[in-house]
Amino acid sequence: MRALAWHGKRDVRVDTVPDPTIEQPTDAIIRVTSSAICGSDLHLYDVLGPFLDAGDILGHEPMGIVEEVGSEVKHIAPGDRVVIPFNISCGHCYMCAEQKLFAMCETTQNHEQGTGASLLGFSKLYGQVPGGQAEFLRVPQAQFGPIKVPEGPADERFLFLSDVLPTAWQGVAYAETPEGGTLAVFGLGPIGQMACRIAKHNGLRVIGEDLVPDRLELARNLGVEVVDTEQVDDIADALREMTSGRGPDSVLEAVGMEAHGSPVGKAAQTVAGILPDAVAQKVIETGGIDRLGALMDCFESVRRGGTVSISGVYGGTANPINLFQLFDKGVQLRMGQAHVKRWINDIMPLLTDDSDPLGTEDFASHKIPLEEAPHGYEIFQKKEDGAFKVVLKP
Ligand SMILES: NC(=O)c1ccc[n+]([C@@H]2O[C@H](COP(=O)([O-])OP(=O)(O)OC[C@H]3O[C@@H](n4cnc5c(N)ncnc54)[C@H](O)[C@@H]3O)[C@@H](O)[C@H]2O)c1
Ligand SMILES: [Zn+2]
Ligand SMILES: [Zn+2]
Repeated sequence: MRALAWHGKRDVRVDTVPDPTIEQPTDAIIRVTSSAICGSDLHLYDVLGPFLDAGDILGHEPMGIVEEVGSEVKHIAPGDRVVIPFNISCGHCYMCAEQKLFAMCETTQNHEQGTGASLLGFSKLYGQVPGGQAEFLRVPQAQFGPIKVPEGPADERFLFLSDVLPTAWQGVAYAETPEGGTLAVFGLGPIGQMACRIAKHNGLRVIGEDLVPDRLELARNLGVEVVDTEQVDDIADALREMTSGRGPDSVLEAVGMEAHGSPVGKAAQTVAGILPDAVAQKVIETGGIDRLGALMDCFESVRRGGTVSISGVYGGTANPINLFQLFDKGVQLRMGQAHVKRWINDIMPLLTDDSDPLGTEDFASHKIPLEEAPHGYEIFQKKEDGAFKVVLKP
């Protein structure tokens, strides 16, 4: 089959590789019909390269048609239309069954790396499981993971159940903005934009922050007030001015470790990028490699006693954080990988509603053949050609 494989820093290629096969009775094989590129893939494409091997297949936002199931897979059958969550979770362990913390699944946790549940297409940090930017995908723990979706609407109506929708939903839920309150959303990429749509749908006042003009425009068109972070001297001051001098009740961080405007973190990431893998892994695991500009702005902006909900991915273990500020302001912090299946029942009614209130069908900016995936990565990373969300069609 054809599949998008990582070969080096900013070097991904579509290769011919063996078709996947059923390896466990809990596996399924799907024929992928749509597979999106995520902001998280951009971290793998660039700064997290030391955790990948040449040939690793990327992609954790796939959907398609079931081709084959293992003997223990009962809730789906060949021919079914399914979306595959990016978390690989078993559904029956303590974390899955009792806590609904599917990104912490104890069956697929990575003890050697000290990380949570395995994720599709997500480097050695998360199980090195081949991903879904490919013609076919082996789905582990398929007795639980795949989400059956109805026939009819275009793939894009349901595709974002794999990641963007539950991640944005969890980000908004964790922000716990009081009724009538204000939510600031930092980062207006796919996660931030979807969070804005969900928060507006919930009746909140939303203020979005980014520096890419067309992304600010997209948010403005949703009725979101926007702040261009390049046009203000102090973002927190600008937000306080808009919120009776106090700052927003909650802040959702949807930027992540490659934030613009963080010179120290950028230098550290550049150094890590030229070291041999084993050394670079240590630097990333033990050093403060994240670019913290956006996160610091979130901490600075949130009102006293407010909540910061972090959806953006961070990986540095020695980041300098102003704990005095957080403690003195009495800030609540919530974060983590999305627990995809926890939110599906809440989201589904909005997708089966034909008015498509979250605008999922128009969400992708680019739908391109799998063969053009390297170009898709490039324009998404450089934010060229209006690339906002790229969906690959194998
Ligand atoms: N928690 C999860 O389960 C989960 C799931 C999916 C994605 N993510 C993470 O969410 C983050 C966003 O993903 P995305 O797909 O929307 O990616 P993206 O890279 O397209 O979006 C990031 C946005 O932040 C903006 N930005 C950069 N620096 C900024 C700054 N200093 N202030 C304000 N805005 C700034 C960028 O211009 C961009 O629009 C990534 O870190 C991704 O890894 C997390
Ligand atoms: Zn993703
Ligand atoms: Zn589990």
